[in-house]
Amino acid sequence: MVSTVIPVQPFDLVIFGGTGDLARRKIFPSLYRRMAVGQMPTDARIVGAARSEMDVKAFRKTVSEALDEFVDPKVLKPEVVKNFLNCIEYVQIDAKGTNGWPELKKLLNERSDSIRAFYLSVAPSLFEDIATRLSKSGIATPDSRIVVEKPLGHDLESAVALNRSLSQSFCEQQIYRIDHYLGKETVQNLMAIRFANALFEPLWNARHVEHIQITVAETVGVEGRGAYYDKSGAMRDMVQNHMMQLLCLTAMEPPARFEPDAVRDEKLKVIRALDPLSASDTVRGQYRATGDEGSYLDHVGDPSSRTESFVALRCHISNWRWAGTPFYLRTGKKLGARLSEIVVTFKHPPHTIFPQVDAQKGNALIIRLQPDEGITMRVTIKDPGPGGMRLIEVPLDMTFADALGEEAGVMPEAYERLIMDVIRGDQTLFMRGDEVEAAWAWTDPIIKLWSESSVRPLPYDPKTGGPIESYKLTGAEGHLWREISA
Ligand code: BG6
Repeated sequence: MVSTVIPVQPFDLVIFGGTGDLARRKIFPSLYRRMAVGQMPTDARIVGAARSEMDVKAFRKTVSEALDEFVDPKVLKPEVVKNFLNCIEYVQIDAKGTNGWPELKKLLNERSDSIRAFYLSVAPSLFEDIATRLSKSGIATPDSRIVVEKPLGHDLESAVALNRSLSQSFCEQQIYRIDHYLGKETVQNLMAIRFANALFEPLWNARHVEHIQITVAETVGVEGRGAYYDKSGAMRDMVQNHMMQLLCLTAMEPPARFEPDAVRDEKLKVIRALDPLSASDTVRGQYRATGDEGSYLDHVGDPSSRTESFVALRCHISNWRWAGTPFYLRTGKKLGARLSEIVVTFKHPPHTIFPQVDAQKGNALIIRLQPDEGITMRVTIKDPGPGGMRLIEVPLDMTFADALGEEAGVMPEAYERLIMDVIRGDQTLFMRGDEVEAAWAWTDPIIKLWSESSVRPLPYDPKTGGPIESYKLTGAEGHLWREISA
């Protein structure tokens, strides 16, 4: 199966923080892959803008090294690499001063008809300085786009301040707030599964759904990122953004059209319909040490830290569709497997003629985001063979890599899709300012609850499903988490 690639218009993409880690690991490799498949035109320009003093030749060398390190050698073709490096420019710039801005303006004005986008791959403390200079200097045109990425605030107040400061220089239609989870292929597939099939939607409500679990489990710890992570914790790092987005796409009403504001309006309604949580709806944890690997507290270098590396939540959405159906969210570091999935467990039939069916299970739709993107439907069938009516549960498995063949192996990475959407001017997979604020408005009171409580996060063993108390959270309603195992 060959996917269709529609080339985008010529563009100038300025990457502030062009020498940084995100640019090296994700942005340049993603753009390269888009050029390799013919989506990024060879006359596009990618302008690295950073503080370091270097010329374009030296910068192209760093980009070339990033490609060698982060692009699959199978797609690294000398001709494409050459074309790609020819698109790279560099401007030494001072985000808080005046140096470099006239040079950037001159460079961009050489081709004033190209689409202009500015990717702020820098600390959020620089967002306002850069946005203001782009606007005041006339470098940003009314059609230019600005791209920012989390952390988008630390709480509601700071998120409102950030939105306000960006809005002084750019209007909402120009602001692209990245949540890289929205760029993941299977996350978009969630919308296709729900809204392009007649099968699921009639069952997608509290009458038929017993509970929904959303898990994003990681095997890595916070080594090396301790300083950042200890100020965030799982709630700010994963729940307020990625998990909320997954929850929204799972629970939202069908939008009237697949258009940015129609989709984002529906997501916003889900966040606003979330009930406030009480302490008993939450479980926090911190991983212990094992073998020669340190504990969370060792990794952040603070034995008294109360920041969570694991969180499990029991949430309810107060609307007609979902009242009464629990949504369980769980995420953490150093768990049993790297696994992201959404599990929709359906209710039992209203009357069963097979009393031997395990009361704990039931039909379930398991949407795996990573690894091995795909969908599994758990169904009950008759155990084959003579000997009476024995029932067993089997998965109806559709791993995309099997169904789609080689194409699935080259599924675009999140940043590839998202950057191309910026150039196309499609905001559907980007968070709107009010969505971000609503998500903080829901998470802030939970974080406050924890900070006022004397209860510390519970220790858990690495390579497990987290603190045992998280099983009690689901168990209290007769539900069971799926195991986190490879
Ligand atoms: C980031 C978080 O946003 O997402 C990290 O800051 C986390 O802590 C990462 O590891 C997970 O992303 P992915 O794509 O690897 O699931």
